[in-house]
Amino acid sequence: MENGGTPSPTGGVADAHVGRIVLSEQQIAARISELGAQLTEDYAGKRPLLVCVLRGAYAFLTDLAREVDLPVEIDFIAVSSYGSSTRTSGVVRLVKDLDVEITDRDVILVEDIVDTGLTLRYLRRSLEARGPASLEVCSLLARESADLEGLGVRYVGFTIPGDFIVGYGLDAAERYRNLRYLAIYEPDSSSDE
Ligand code: PRP
Repeated sequence: MENGGTPSPTGGVADAHVGRIVLSEQQIAARISELGAQLTEDYAGKRPLLVCVLRGAYAFLTDLAREVDLPVEIDFIAVSSYGSSTRTSGVVRLVKDLDVEITDRDVILVEDIVDTGLTLRYLRRSLEARGPASLEVCSLLARESADLEGLGVRYVGFTIPGDFIVGYGLDAAERYRNLRYLAIYEPDSSSDE
């Protein structure tokens, strides 16, 4: 294991379901530093509102916000389309709305992953209706299959293939969000996940 700890079947965060590391703690940190510098440049003179899409984006939001050298504000929105399943239900549910008004604000939607784009389409529609001065999306990860242009995703950390991954905020039935790295999830062969 190059870093981030060796998955252990007997204890700790990782277990036998945590497979190959696809993005190490160091790779993630380096890319977030670049994204933060880019946002600092692009939003110079502004006071952007970083909107964290719970729950998966919590780790990314925390690290990204500290790499932006601007007086950012932070709010949280929670949606769910996957529940405890590994497949999307196809329906996005608003679980928690923003606490602040975003009219005339420069809003940056912070996501952990853009997969089918279903969540983002829903959030974009909901937030654009509130009249922000601007609305951009910053996602740590995007599937190679995602239509980033069509979805209007301006900032992406890494483009990744379709493997089921966990860690750094991403879960499998709520587990593994606190892994410091991103790794392939290996379900039981007998499991229906
Ligand atoms: C995940 C992820 C994104 C969304 C991306 O959320 O955090 O918000 O799915 O998938 P999509 O592009 O196909 O819509 P999930 O519903 O699993 O909730 P969570 O963030 O609480 O894990």
